[in-house]
Amino acid sequence: MAKQNIELIVNGDRYEVAVEPNRMLVDVLREDLGLTGTKIGCAQGDCGACTVLMDGVSISSCLTLAVEAHQRELTTIEGLAASPQELHPIQESFVQHGAVQCGYCTPGMIMSAKHLLDQNPHPSEEQIRQGLSGNLCRCTGYNKIVEAIGAAADKMASSGKEG
Ligand code: FES
Ligand code: FES
Repeated sequence: MAKQNIELIVNGDRYEVAVEPNRMLVDVLREDLGLTGTKIGCAQGDCGACTVLMDGVSISSCLTLAVEAHQRELTTIEGLAASPQELHPIQESFVQHGAVQCGYCTPGMIMSAKHLLDQNPHPSEEQIRQGLSGNLCRCTGYNKIVEAIGAAADKMASSGKEG
């Protein structure tokens, strides 16, 4: 199948890649760009492990063709922390609240949480649970994840780091 040249803007960096038209975005992120923080769980839109932001909206990158992301702004888990020493407040809160066990769902959970808090900086517990409804976790029972996101929202609001 003939490849197409596309430009991806990922975490502020521009990449030129040649991809088959049927190649999925998650595979290009992981295999071509080496951004393996985005995980593949089900590869069919059920688990949320592959969640990234495209133009600020959370999407399943296992259901998105790479060509659909041509010249769109993508954010992956690698784009959230200011540096390895300075995690994003949502990441910090997951660590502090014990919301990570095996960690496989965590990047997708955090990207969904980022999308939620960008839209709604003060979500109720119910709204957090709804915001995570597309993300599955086999380990935590969800409560600590929900607590972590609520605490991150409070911290971001009090430090003026909303969004
Ligand atoms: S890997 Fe994309 S939703 Fe499960
Ligand atoms: S921490 Fe293991 S799947 Fe969520």
